[in-house]
Amino acid sequence: MLIRILSLVYLSLDVSAFAIPPLPYLHSFLGASNAQRQQQPLQDTLDAWIQKEERIALDKLLANVAPGGRNVEGEGVAAGTVHTSNPSGTFEDLSGLGEPKFGVDGKPFTGSWGRPQRDGPALRALTLMHYLREYNASNPLLWSAIEATDFYEPFYHASMPPKSVIKADLEYVSHYWNESGFDLWEEVEGLHFFTLMVSARSLREGTDLARSFGDYGAAAWYEEQAGYIEHILTRFWNANKGHLVETLWSKRTGLDCGLLLGSLHAVPSEVSQDEAIYPPWSDEILVSLLALTRDQHERFPINSSPSEDRDDDLEKFAFEGTGIGRYPEDVYDGYGTSNRGGNPWFLCTSSAAEILYRTATHISASNLTITSLGLPFYESLLATSSLDVEPGTFGPSDALYHSVMERLKTTGDGFLEVVKTHVDAEGSMSEQFDRVTGYMRGARDLTWSYGAFLGAVRARKEVKGL
Ligand SMILES: *[C@@H]1O[C@H](CO)[C@@H](O)[C@H](O)[C@H]1NC(C)=O
Ligand SMILES: *[C@@H]1O[C@H](CO)[C@@H](O)[C@H](O)[C@H]1NC(C)=O
Ligand SMILES: *[C@@H]1O[C@H](CO)[C@@H](O)[C@H](O)[C@H]1NC(C)=O
Repeated sequence: MLIRILSLVYLSLDVSAFAIPPLPYLHSFLGASNAQRQQQPLQDTLDAWIQKEERIALDKLLANVAPGGRNVEGEGVAAGTVHTSNPSGTFEDLSGLGEPKFGVDGKPFTGSWGRPQRDGPALRALTLMHYLREYNASNPLLWSAIEATDFYEPFYHASMPPKSVIKADLEYVSHYWNESGFDLWEEVEGLHFFTLMVSARSLREGTDLARSFGDYGAAAWYEEQAGYIEHILTRFWNANKGHLVETLWSKRTGLDCGLLLGSLHAVPSEVSQDEAIYPPWSDEILVSLLALTRDQHERFPINSSPSEDRDDDLEKFAFEGTGIGRYPEDVYDGYGTSNRGGNPWFLCTSSAAEILYRTATHISASNLTITSLGLPFYESLLATSSLDVEPGTFGPSDALYHSVMERLKTTGDGFLEVVKTHVDAEGSMSEQFDRVTGYMRGARDLTWSYGAFLGAVRARKEVKGL
């Protein structure tokens, strides 16, 4: 089970918020009266619901964050735990930074676990670098003031061995990225798309940060390693399959929500000069999203209404809002393994929406370019339209451009409609929703469910005309 926190928050989390209550068996548990309590009233329009849910999601997300979050018992896990020797290693050679699991008291978890996981240091560095950029922007005088050192040194200082948190994380990523580790779902060992995407991005942003602190040797090293990672990332495109794969040399199909997450969490910051690798609007991500969505649409009964024409003509799959789970082979049902298979997850469904909104925003700032690689996605997106979709470049004076923009927005909304349907009456999001009944399952109030929803809503606001 995933207990990591991304993007907005990193300092601490409360394991009790993720503890799974001892629920009775699903069949005996869900009676009709219970169903009414669980289901969100659906009369709100999507816009009205999003407006309410945005506040609810932020509130519930922050409740999981120490210090002070109302779900947090005691201190929560503090950043200082990185210095603790643990089953992944020590701080001396930085190997301990790959440890994924600590108790709320900050003590390392010593039971067996999928370790190490190498995405943590990259994600923490990205989060803190984002924080520093924002802080610097709103306190511009501090940077050249005498007190700058006091404020900035704990975050970044050139000294080695590293004494500052970002420096330690960047050193970890730049030295360990090519060793195998466990994936973001804590299950599979290998080299992973998600992990390498955020690793490369942290080193790109870290290159700029190191330069601003006069740490030029480190900047050159981080830049060099980022280049190597980006080169390896090209191997994750599988031309035979026609989509990206999450893990190299894996027996799985490789279709995985981690592809969407890797793309979203590795978008360059606003100030970065770098070209994005596999950004949300890239053909590789869009056709991978199509393939994953098509799989999940057919896999989960809640995704197809009984009235739907179950014509198995795969060529005519019309891309639409769908409950998306982690990956086709998933068997974790929120409480244990199930021979029925996995379920859709809130965070994956919201991430699909975010990909589409970001694609719309990107197109509105440039042109729509349809290549033969991306063609299947655009054909599916416009499957219900009478327009012919063919490769080419289209601008605001073309009908196709407008139809694509419109469909990106409405299909993104379709994914958020799925989220809206499965939250409970208080707007809570757990980890998963049941593939048959649609009711929530798995970890309660999963921080990442809220974070991914808020990310999608932020991207939706940037789409012109919504
Ligand atoms: C990782 O990279 C280093 C230096 O480039 C190399 O010596 C080492 O063999 C690589 N390890 C793996 C597992 O590929
Ligand atoms: C802070 O901003 C100044 C310019 O306003 C810039 O020169 C400096 O590099 C920035 N520092 C960091 C850490 O980004
Ligand atoms: C869009 O395409 C047109 C025609 O090909 C071109 O003139 C224009 O500069 C492009 N706009 C952008 C923003 O790329």
